[in-house]
Amino acid sequence: MILPILNYPDKRLRTKAKHVNVVDETIQTLIKDMFETMYAKDGIGLAATQVDQHLQVMVVDMPDSQDDYQLLLKNRQDESHKQPPKHHPLCFINPKIKEKNGQEKHTEGCLSVPYFQAEVQRANHIKVEALNEKGEVFTLQATGLLAICIQHELDHLKGILFVDYLSKLKQERLLEKTKKMTNG
Ligand code: NI
Repeated sequence: MILPILNYPDKRLRTKAKHVNVVDETIQTLIKDMFETMYAKDGIGLAATQVDQHLQVMVVDMPDSQDDYQLLLKNRQDESHKQPPKHHPLCFINPKIKEKNGQEKHTEGCLSVPYFQAEVQRANHIKVEALNEKGEVFTLQATGLLAICIQHELDHLKGILFVDYLSKLKQERLLEKTKKMTNG
């Protein structure tokens, strides 16, 4: 089932997600729906917060190359896009970053902030620990775009958006632009 996505500046995006105590059928259905929603919207990541489910669950599927990623960003703004291919679906329950190294600036977008992209600086190497959809613990070392995406989604679970890292002036401009667009 494709779930509706909350859009910036919706206050519900500021909710801190709760720890998942049991990975049961309800969680597994949520994960399945989140993947379906993410693929339908040409996303590379989606946090439960964005579909108004305030549990520490996030899904990621990273394109293999930078070109594929740029194509995805373009497709997202084009109504007549084709469904993106599935690459490496990853699901994280109760994710925690155990190590962080280096810095990298990258252009980010977000399904909750449509039609807007901006450069954000984040760690370019991370080690993350989480549960998978079966409730098993796993650790993952990620670099580059995957590391950035995981940090972006993890922020959602804390109620943080990538636009929060921009200057006050840029945030005000985005807010104005968003208001104009939603008021038609
Ligand atoms: Ni996002």
